Amino acid sequence: MGKLAALILAAGKSTRMKSARSKVLHGLAGRPVLSYVIEAARRCGADDVRVVIGPDQSDIKEYLRGTGVGYVVQRKALGTAHAVKAAANAFKGLSGDILILCGDVPLMRAESLKQFVSAVRAKRATLGVLSMTPPEPGSYGRIVRDLDGKMTRIVEAKEATDKEMTIREVNSGILMAERSWLFNSLGKVRNDNAKSEYYITDLVGIALKEGVGVIAHRCGPAWEFHGINTRVDLARAAELMRERINEGLMLKGAGLIDYRHTYIDAGVRIGQDTTVLPFTFIQGQTRIGAGCTIENGVVLRNATIGNGVHVKAHSVIEDSIISDGAILGPFARVRPGSKVGKDARIGNFVELKKCTMRSGAKANHLTYLGDAVVGANANIGCGTITCNYDGVAKHMTHIGDGAFIGSDVQFVAPVRVGKGAVVGAGSTITRDVPAGALAITRTEQKIVRGYAEKKKKKRKYK
Ligand code: UD1
Ligand code: CA
Repeated sequence: MGKLAALILAAGKSTRMKSARSKVLHGLAGRPVLSYVIEAARRCGADDVRVVIGPDQSDIKEYLRGTGVGYVVQRKALGTAHAVKAAANAFKGLSGDILILCGDVPLMRAESLKQFVSAVRAKRATLGVLSMTPPEPGSYGRIVRDLDGKMTRIVEAKEATDKEMTIREVNSGILMAERSWLFNSLGKVRNDNAKSEYYITDLVGIALKEGVGVIAHRCGPAWEFHGINTRVDLARAAELMRERINEGLMLKGAGLIDYRHTYIDAGVRIGQDTTVLPFTFIQGQTRIGAGCTIENGVVLRNATIGNGVHVKAHSVIEDSIISDGAILGPFARVRPGSKVGKDARIGNFVELKKCTMRSGAKANHLTYLGDAVVGANANIGCGTITCNYDGVAKHMTHIGDGAFIGSDVQFVAPVRVGKGAVVGAGSTITRDVPAGALAITRTEQKIVRGYAEKKKKKRKYK
């Protein structure tokens, strides 16, 4: 079996997207549209993958840096055949086949591509076209077949007769061709058509004339080849992708209550018997263990969550690690670099930033803990604040195991509280507290008897 390379066309003007960004870099389930096409090409066995870009698409160049995928520049968008020709030098000397894909068709599965590649090879065809029969053939190129069922040409919708427009089988835009034949034949393509473009689809006629093998092969459902031209197309693709991601997770044992309204990025992992309520956004490299509950409105971004964790409604957790059995929220905010230990509790309106809460530690209400380590089973009272920033640098607060911090305490960092120490409510702690000690900075309470009565009288005489 010959080698397989892939060429991804992405140099179109994509004017219909109405965006400053290249359309293939728009996000779909947390990743650029183009990344799915690259992944499918690789997974179907292409070891050399290149992208055709336009001269103004430096954003795509930037994105490709470090991915191992090369690019070639098509100076002017003169049509799909012209785009492929731009890669002639890049693929010089390669023996084998080239799979031509569109950068704006992200939903196709590698399995479907593999089927297509095998079918073309099994038929020993020099040129293969992946065809499909969508419910609405719309503006796709129609596959014209003769009475024997052999493909004779592809006619673009703009040039098709009324009768040809009724053909249901259309060109997905994906082709495979033997390299040397492909680049020799591209020079024969002309642009005498409605758009004055060089159409790659003209290769079908050229192949037939030369008597080389050409086939159209249908595989995979048409929605896999849904292309993105507008933001509406992108939203539809996101819907299809969401369905695919969520179904995959459910089949592995995750319980999604309303899978149409649960927004999970590609690549997220969720363990068995974890229940996810609607309107949650689970993004990036998030990993969730088994038996968790993720309530409505929660946002998890690059979070690593253990087993049996309960994240209550409207909590936000970013770039942090949550251990088994912890309970967070509602309305908890866990900012990057935090670690919440086993069975710890983070209550409502508690904000953590670069904060380690060791196992069993609790901060149940209205608290800010930044640049802090809170020892095992320590209890942080309501309204506690670490004053971690002095206007120049950030400083650490260390709170020992089993310490008890009363309500409304400020820790002016850097400061340490020893194991089992107690800090009285309302204290401003500026010096270290030894283990087992009590620290209290409250001013003594004054009592002025009869004060209210006196005040009333004063007001009367005025
Ligand atoms: C093309 C096919 C059509 C097929 C449809 C499937 C041709 C002539 N027509 O039509 O039969 O049904 O795709 O979606 O091939 N591109 C470049 N450089 C160019 C022009 C296009 O890189 O000069 C890229 C585009 O970015 C896009 C792809 O090629 O990724 C397809 O081009 P597009 O103009 O969208 O072709 P369609 O008119 O949709
Ligand atoms: Ca298109």
